Amino acid sequence: MNEKQHIEQISIREGSPDDVDELVSLANRADVKRLVPFTDVVPRGEEYFRKVLKFQSNDFWVRVATLDGEIVGFISGEPTINLKTKERIEGVEHIKTLVVDPKHWGKKIGGRLVSEAIEIAKKKSKKQIELWTHETNSRAQRLYEGKGFKLTGERKEAENTNEWIVHYSLNI
Ligand SMILES: CC(C)(COP(=O)(O)OP(=O)(O)OC[C@H]1O[C@@H](n2cnc3c(N)ncnc32)[C@H](O)[C@@H]1OP(=O)(O)O)[C@@H](O)C(=O)NCCC(=O)NCCS
Repeated sequence: MNEKQHIEQISIREGSPDDVDELVSLANRADVKRLVPFTDVVPRGEEYFRKVLKFQSNDFWVRVATLDGEIVGFISGEPTINLKTKERIEGVEHIKTLVVDPKHWGKKIGGRLVSEAIEIAKKKSKKQIELWTHETNSRAQRLYEGKGFKLTGERKEAENTNEWIVHYSLNI
């Protein structure tokens, strides 16, 4: 099957609380795989991903990618808040988590999910969409840059490593 046929067979649906166990397990597997070259970094673990899947929060959304009925990735988001004051920043949507099953990396599923997030933000009449990613995460950065995201210059120290996290945004 070529890449085009593959991506055409991907379906996207809304995520639900019933998906949580599967999404947590998938996110952890992808995180562990991403960290294989970084032997000094301890993966964040399943409980971290369970906490960030905030289905109880009204404005939180998840889109799940499936292939032949199997979950192969997901993206989640919510309105952006000012990290210091916790106040919502009008007109800006935040991508919280993007994960693709490692056995399907490189087949544009991540790209499809990011495009979906951009459409969600547009439907919410947002003017900008933004995210943070580890500076060492070159695969994710290539994906975001390919979708037009630009580094804003903001950076902060990662919670679980001694790396930096960098900030990307896209005007939509
Ligand atoms: C980041 C992630 C979501 C990408 O998913 P994916 O389905 O492989 O994404 P795509 O196939 O759409 O695109 C991946 C990009 O990485 C590029 N890529 C492929 N192999 C690569 C490599 N070894 N190093 C760097 N980039 C690579 C691809 O060429 C593609 O860019 P392109 O569209 O310009 O060709 C996936 O790798 C993942 O789940 N990683 C672990 C979790 C994570 O890091 N999430 C992002 C947190 S911000």
